[in-house]
Amino acid sequence: MAHPAGKDVLEVDKIEILVLIDNQTDSLSSTPENFTSEWSNLHKAGMEQISGSCQCCANHGLALVVKAWIGDTCHTALFDAGPVDFAVEYNATRLGAGLDQVEAVVLSHGHWDHAGGLLQALDLIQAPENKPAVPVYLHPGMFRQRALPMPDNSLLPIKDIPSPDDIQAHGGNPVITEAATAFMDNMFFVSGEIPRITDYEKGFPGHMRRTEDGKDWEPDPLLMDERYMAVNVRGKGLVVFSACSHAGIVNVMHAARRDFPNVPLHALMGGYHLSGGNEKIIDQTVADLGQFDLDLILPGHCTGWRAVNKLEQAYGDKVVPIAVGMIAKI
Ligand SMILES: [Fe+2]
Repeated sequence: MAHPAGKDVLEVDKIEILVLIDNQTDSLSSTPENFTSEWSNLHKAGMEQISGSCQCCANHGLALVVKAWIGDTCHTALFDAGPVDFAVEYNATRLGAGLDQVEAVVLSHGHWDHAGGLLQALDLIQAPENKPAVPVYLHPGMFRQRALPMPDNSLLPIKDIPSPDDIQAHGGNPVITEAATAFMDNMFFVSGEIPRITDYEKGFPGHMRRTEDGKDWEPDPLLMDERYMAVNVRGKGLVVFSACSHAGIVNVMHAARRDFPNVPLHALMGGYHLSGGNEKIIDQTVADLGQFDLDLILPGHCTGWRAVNKLEQAYGDKVVPIAVGMIAKI
């Protein structure tokens, strides 16, 4: 059954995605029509000669600037904000990213590599004038401190994401909800919690969070605060943005199919999280993605090179690894 908020989502005429931050830099690999790579986009943004200082900064994390049009109406969303403030400012300046046009922010989940640059991004969004606070879509489970186990069995804390008060102080309006929501004239969609359906996608084993009283740690392998964003492009279908896919990328696509049962699934961009401990589920994941009949498979961030290789072997030219500074027009 379609999610009620999914039914509200309008078809848009077209979208344009700027990869503001990604793990990878790659200006040399050829790209399909409608995709342009970093150097070309830097040139369009005013780069007069190629030099080291003109390049974007690739960094472990993800930030996507997504523009959607219906006729003359254009809305711009920021999906995640990368790991650190300087990377947002450095890349946005070089790429002419136009963050001042961003009208809403979606934070995919509560991890530093997606939220560390959020306050800087909000400052740039609010830079030219004191415009009204922009909604920042957040899940209530994001704010508990988290930690990762180290080989010596100690726990290494993960830097907290900005608090709702911090977000408000930088011109954001925190919208803290577990509910799926259509936003910006119903041209964009942020999902609810992603049901865990497959038996092999087990989240992030070992991932921990503080107990509610803040005194101890407890297992948090499922990261239920992770959600996907989507836009429905007329004549093509749903474009799904999944930042780190701790829910499992196949579970994400099952959720998208459930939320939009009558819409073809056109493209899947983001981190598929098939590196490290998840390398053992690459083969099953790659095979299972076939059922969704995607036209474009756009892996980035935490996908991992082994999974990208297997995806390319299985799906050929449908696979376009994303890289920092890339623009995709869909
Ligand atoms: Fe991530």
